[in-house]
Amino acid sequence: MGNRFHGIEGNNYYLPNDHPEFERLDVINTHMRTMWGSNILAPISPKPSLILDVGTGSGSWVIEVAGIYSTAQVIGMDLSPIQPLSVPPNAEFQVGDLTVDLGSFHEMSFDLIHSRLVKLGVLDWQWDHYVEQVFQLLKPSIGWAQFGESSQLLCDGEPIPSNRPLYWVSCL
Ligand SMILES: C[S@@+](CC[C@H](N)C(=O)[O-])C[C@H]1O[C@@H](n2cnc3c(N)ncnc32)[C@H](O)[C@@H]1O
Repeated sequence: MGNRFHGIEGNNYYLPNDHPEFERLDVINTHMRTMWGSNILAPISPKPSLILDVGTGSGSWVIEVAGIYSTAQVIGMDLSPIQPLSVPPNAEFQVGDLTVDLGSFHEMSFDLIHSRLVKLGVLDWQWDHYVEQVFQLLKPSIGWAQFGESSQLLCDGEPIPSNRPLYWVSCL
């Protein structure tokens, strides 16, 4: 059996959205949380009311953050509805394209917008508008945006040798 893809016309994101990919993304989330020591690095309010995860993938980040911040409604948005159906009451998932649908959220309403590893679905010329929209959605003065994208990991200017502990991170 082959891979399954989102099939949305006009969107360039080319990774699959099937079960093996769901599991890979779940593992990535665990690795990221473990590496950084937390899902959230931004110093957000201890009692946030609204959090958005753009390009949520497996939804694991949303479910974990909803468990930590019971005061917050935590929304995960993605091109593909692959997230679990059974989630905490303060978590929800929406299908949406970050390059098209962010305007459907209220401006100045979010305590935190998290965006990680979405670069394959955002063309170079779309980034400025994307970042501007994210900042418009944040609560003035107290809202935070947390972006995380990968670059090729290098070791002394060379690709990491496969016998080095960091090699697996560069393969994620
Ligand atoms: C590599 S995964 C990262 C998932 C998650 N953010 C994480 O870090 O574990 C990229 C996710 O972004 C989603 N995505 C890519 N382009 C998107 C877009 N334009 N709008 C919404 N979601 C997008 C994909 O469907 C995929 O689930």
